[in-house]
Amino acid sequence: MSGLPDVKNAPEADSSVLRIWGGHSLRGHVKISGAKNSALVLMAGALLCSEDCRIHNVPMLADVERMAQVLSALGVRIERNGETLDINAKDFSTSKAPYELVTQLRASFFAIGAILARLGVAQMPLPGGCAIGARPVDLHVRGLQAMGAEVQIEHGICNAYVPGSNRRLKGAKIYLDSPSVGATETLMMAATLADGETVIENAAREPEVVDLANFCNSMGAKITGAGTSTIHIKGVSQLHSTDYQVIPDRIEAGTFLTAAAITHSELLLSPVIPDHLLPAIAKLQEMGVNIIEEAPNCLRVMPAEVLKAADIETLPHPGFPTDMQAQFMSLLAIADGDSLISETVFENRLRHASELNRLGADIRVKGNIAFVRGVPLLSGAPVLGTDLRAAAALVVAGLAASGETTIKGLQFLDRGYDRLDLKLQQLGAKVERIREVDADAAIASAAH
Ligand code: UD1
Repeated sequence: MSGLPDVKNAPEADSSVLRIWGGHSLRGHVKISGAKNSALVLMAGALLCSEDCRIHNVPMLADVERMAQVLSALGVRIERNGETLDINAKDFSTSKAPYELVTQLRASFFAIGAILARLGVAQMPLPGGCAIGARPVDLHVRGLQAMGAEVQIEHGICNAYVPGSNRRLKGAKIYLDSPSVGATETLMMAATLADGETVIENAAREPEVVDLANFCNSMGAKITGAGTSTIHIKGVSQLHSTDYQVIPDRIEAGTFLTAAAITHSELLLSPVIPDHLLPAIAKLQEMGVNIIEEAPNCLRVMPAEVLKAADIETLPHPGFPTDMQAQFMSLLAIADGDSLISETVFENRLRHASELNRLGADIRVKGNIAFVRGVPLLSGAPVLGTDLRAAAALVVAGLAASGETTIKGLQFLDRGYDRLDLKLQQLGAKVERIREVDADAAIASAAH
């Protein structure tokens, strides 16, 4: 592996904070990076092929670096040149993924499907729970079992192997109890090289699932129906090389839409696939924000006269994405009226509410429901991002809050946003990344 930044030495991820002076409007054009959740799973998908895979538009993220380290540890050649990744899994022969990395990055667990398909055996540490919920892997495991794998979980490791002399998984009809994105992707990858046809019912319909199917098909896989609830995969014996471009990140784009709306700014965003953003766009329009398709793959967002309250319920795609819930909570915090947010996908994903309250929001949480009473203005304060999208929500709120907001927890933000602080600076935001010790000293002296 070369050309990839070392996560440990990444821009002071763990020891820096973001300082924002709010109340300034944004203007100009922002370039949306490649989708994190696609890039990560495409990297896992490259394990299915023993020839060269070139993937373009790969965002600069700590998670991508960690995934690259997982692939390297499996014996895969991987090289980064700017936003292009070259992956060659010809000599990939290690079936055991490293504990320290898989436990930090859930998407790396999804590689179990590709490893099993290629090698007939896989040992994957369980990804573990995380800040937003328990996040089990039972649907992944049951699907692999339906395809003939023997799977046992022991000492925190998911051990899977395919019995029989040819070590090939068998096509199966699989019904998912819930449309899990990761389970759909794991099983789609596993089925790509299986013997016979697999049908996944109640499959996830997220754009990243479609991107993975298109990527696999570009290597010669036979997948149809991705983007609907029923996916058919006819197994093939091997895949060939590809040159593929990751779709734009709909969650990053949605985050910039909320940043524009909360600062009453006019912004251009590209490249985007507007269809992927429909739930967020529809909700913003309901709140009074004007969004037009300026050109193909380009959106213009214009300020609302008054930001109106709105209710949100997170759902699997094409419902409102859970990954946008936190950023919308920031926006609703200063909307005119009361809003109700119901988080139905993850059981513990409202922890940003209390941090937003530090900024002057009026939000009460009961179970998976947040009651948001709009206030006229937020005021800057030190806050802590507890997960990736929670940190993004605090950035959005900080852009509108009066005075100075300092945000800790950038190790989460850097997992999923490609140089967010730089992009915001280019739009005119007063944002800087400083060392945590300097921020602490500034807060202490302000208190005296
Ligand atoms: C993916 C995304 C994440 C997004 C989520 C929902 C990646 C790398 N991450 O996560 O950003 O928030 O989709 O859109 O693509 N579940 C089970 N058993 C399983 C699998 C999932 O009960 O075997 C449950 C989860 O606990 C959760 C729900 O299903 O409550 C949805 O999870 P899932 O769609 O699997 O999310 P991820 O694929 O982990």
